[in-house]
Amino acid sequence: MSRVNVLDHPLIQHKVTFIRDKNTGTKEFRELVDEVATLMAYEITRDMPLEETTIETPVATCTSRVIAGKKVGLIPILRAGLGMVDGILQLIPAAKVGHVGLYRDPETLQPVEYYVKLPSDIAERELIVIDPMLATGGSAAAAITALKNRGAKSMKLMCLIAAPEGIKLVQEEHPDVDIYVAAIDEYLNDHGYIVPGLGDAGDRLFGTK
Ligand code: URA
Repeated sequence: MSRVNVLDHPLIQHKVTFIRDKNTGTKEFRELVDEVATLMAYEITRDMPLEETTIETPVATCTSRVIAGKKVGLIPILRAGLGMVDGILQLIPAAKVGHVGLYRDPETLQPVEYYVKLPSDIAERELIVIDPMLATGGSAAAAITALKNRGAKSMKLMCLIAAPEGIKLVQEEHPDVDIYVAAIDEYLNDHGYIVPGLGDAGDRLFGTK
């Protein structure tokens, strides 16, 4: 069973409060999502392996540690996932970025891929799949399946806010993928919105609607 990690750092929680607030306008919303993404990236990368290297300081030779292991790939799910990419790149500037676009078929209600563009070496990368709102979990689970079908081996899922329903679905379909969230909310309403949530993340990021 995958683990669910609630990133409860005070700075993350403080900023999420203002992200939720309906009186927060597009500019500030975007800036806050960017900042929270950076803080979440700091927490998510805690388990990155390190290796020793030898360097010379101006005073002496010493061994010191650098990040080892696999390189990182960021995979935002279009469109709202885009809002968290730059914040993560602040800390992992060399990460490659792939994109997955999905829409829901109005008849079957199943997610359908309409755009997938990935780094060629995803099998060798630690992937962070990004979707601010884990609602039903359908899009995230389908995006992870799409990545696995193309060779991805190691993934984490990063969301701002999750509904219990979405967590359950991703855990059932992808027990190997750990989930990182800033908050777990109460439930999904009849319109598919997370309650209390923050509304439509894509609309609030891009100023649409
Ligand atoms: N997507 C959103 O943007 N918000 C929700 O509450 C649920 C899905």
